[in-house]
Amino acid sequence: MVSYLQDPNELLAKEGAMKPIEIAEGIYLMAAVDWNIRDMHGYSTESGTTYNAYLIVDEKTVLIDTAKKGFEDDLMEGISQVIEPREIDFVISNHTEMDHSGGLPRIMHRVGEDKPLYCSKMGLKSLPLHFRQKWNYRPVETGTELSLGRKTLAFLETRMLHWPDSMFTYVKEDKLLFSSDAFGQHYAGPERFDDEIGDAIMPHAAKYFANILLIYAPLILKLVEKVQELGLAIDTICPDHGIVWRQDPAKIINAYVEWSKQKPKRKAVVVYDSMWHSTQKMAEAIVAGLAEQGVDAKPMHLRACHRSDVMTQVLDAGAVVVGSPTLNNGLFPTVSDFLTYMKGLKPQNKVGAAFGSYGWSGEAVKLINKELEAMKFDVASPGLKIQYVPDDKGVQAAYELGKKIAGALPSK
Ligand code: FEO
Repeated sequence: MVSYLQDPNELLAKEGAMKPIEIAEGIYLMAAVDWNIRDMHGYSTESGTTYNAYLIVDEKTVLIDTAKKGFEDDLMEGISQVIEPREIDFVISNHTEMDHSGGLPRIMHRVGEDKPLYCSKMGLKSLPLHFRQKWNYRPVETGTELSLGRKTLAFLETRMLHWPDSMFTYVKEDKLLFSSDAFGQHYAGPERFDDEIGDAIMPHAAKYFANILLIYAPLILKLVEKVQELGLAIDTICPDHGIVWRQDPAKIINAYVEWSKQKPKRKAVVVYDSMWHSTQKMAEAIVAGLAEQGVDAKPMHLRACHRSDVMTQVLDAGAVVVGSPTLNNGLFPTVSDFLTYMKGLKPQNKVGAAFGSYGWSGEAVKLINKELEAMKFDVASPGLKIQYVPDDKGVQAAYELGKKIAGALPSK
């Protein structure tokens, strides 16, 4: 019976109440669905997300990861549908970030504060700095194994994917990988598996990669090599966000390899802001010049497009063209914000160019160029600045700039 005095947000949370799903014999997915989150530390999560924990019931019972603070009741309810939480023998923390560990204090309290808590060596440093608890930490390293009875867990440290403490846990007998953040997606929906959603999940996976993992692309290529070297067969990938890859785990591994290589496409993102439509007019002419040369050109106004959606387009673009009006001798704030964000994610193999309208001082183009050079972009032009409103000659110059950038891109 629903009480009308219940908080509507609580009701919404209940819509996603935990339903444990057995994904292999004795292995359960516990997905806490966060339908309403729209911002994850500056990344727009318009489709919500899930915090996936996993329960393995064997001779020993283990819980892998928890959920964000606030979702503990949901998780506890899920565990209780399978076993009494006190029967959990060990907890594994694959990653300290609080979307996976925020529930640890409540979970450890319920499971038993003295129960072993397995984490990486770096997790041993970061967990106490988050929770100030003297739990029974058991640090592990790559190659450490833990027998649960019929199943054997093996650990693989994956530093910087996504934090220094991150690690994977692999179930040898089921060829099943708990991959923490890697291979995840910020997606809340009714589907729990790749075969239920199909290719519709790929844009979510690409956005996640572009905004969270792009900076670590060289490490991802090395990790895939290492997994191949270790001969780890993988039938199922269980990330901590979004759907489980059980039908075609190779699909997401191959996508990660491709995204990590950052091979430029004949595609350009023209990202800008504008005060009185002059920089916008230039952006549109640049896009027309690029398109005339067969480039897939995307104009993205920074007050219409979230920085994380722009980064998703930057992922496979060959060129990033940045426009800003000069405001108070500097960049327009949204453009500074975007440049800071993109610089942190370290995209590689890009052609860059700058443009912008100005009134009297006109520093913006120079400032953008400085940032593009710092990011090691191949700067295709000294940039184009136009005083006040572009006339036909100015529009033509912007169009020609688009054509020039197209010439610096690969032919296919
Ligand atoms: Fe989903 Fe790095 O946490």
